[in-house]
Amino acid sequence: MLLVFLGAPGSGKGTTSKKMVDLHGYKHISTGDIFREVIKENTPLGKRVKKIIESGELVDDKTTWEVARHALEQNDLENEKIILDGFPRNIEQAKMLEDWLLEKKLDMPKPQYFEVSLDVILQRLSGRLICSKCGRVYNVISDKPKVKGKCDFDGADLYQREDDKIENVETRLKTYRDVTEPLVKFYADRGDLILINGEASSETTAEISLSFAEELKN
Ligand code: AP5
Ligand code: MG
Repeated sequence: MLLVFLGAPGSGKGTTSKKMVDLHGYKHISTGDIFREVIKENTPLGKRVKKIIESGELVDDKTTWEVARHALEQNDLENEKIILDGFPRNIEQAKMLEDWLLEKKLDMPKPQYFEVSLDVILQRLSGRLICSKCGRVYNVISDKPKVKGKCDFDGADLYQREDDKIENVETRLKTYRDVTEPLVKFYADRGDLILINGEASSETTAEISLSFAEELKN
């Protein structure tokens, strides 16, 4: 079964996915996480992607779809529980995904859209910290590490994502408004959008997401 998570930067897609992985046996595919791994490899692709992501722009559709499709193909979508987080992000990408699913005779699930106000987004992004070793996500307000600046699990240093720095957040939010909001409208007009209150606790957002997933099964 495939779930698609849609929402602004900082709306809680990754955090909710992590809960679903830890508590409910889901697998998590995040195109943003995959790109951050590619960047670490320092290949020509990694160098190109690094510049784009850090500036808050989107990676081109062809590259992104290759990455997303490759990740999807590693899984059994009929028998495993998969969350696709951060893809699709524009109408072109949505068509690529739907055509591919159609070829596989699989249905496009109704995307789950995490609704969060701008104030909350700004507060969350400015407070997010990531473990440099395991990638675990913290927040200086809502999910503090036990020791300041260190991961609870492996003690590695926490860092701020380059694209969470205030000067890049503005571009990301503009990109989101220009490119992803029309996709949200596209699904809403089709009557396909599932709304999730992204301002609830991550335990609650995971429970809500799960209840919609149960409905998809029936
Ligand atoms: P990506 O990594 O996907 O970034 P994003 O979409 O900007 O989303 P975020 O990861 O910032 O937000 P999130 O919703 O996951 O929030 P989180 O749960 O971490 O993509 C990065 C870049 O890669 C893109 O800008 C683009 O360049 C490229 N890219 C990726 N996909 C692409 C695509 N399809 N096409 C083209 N380019 C693509 O939470 C944020 C903070 O809030 C955390 O600190 C967390 O602790 C806290 N928090 C979360 N939920 C709650 C809650 N319920 N209550 C309290 N605090 C919470
Ligand atoms: Mg994320």
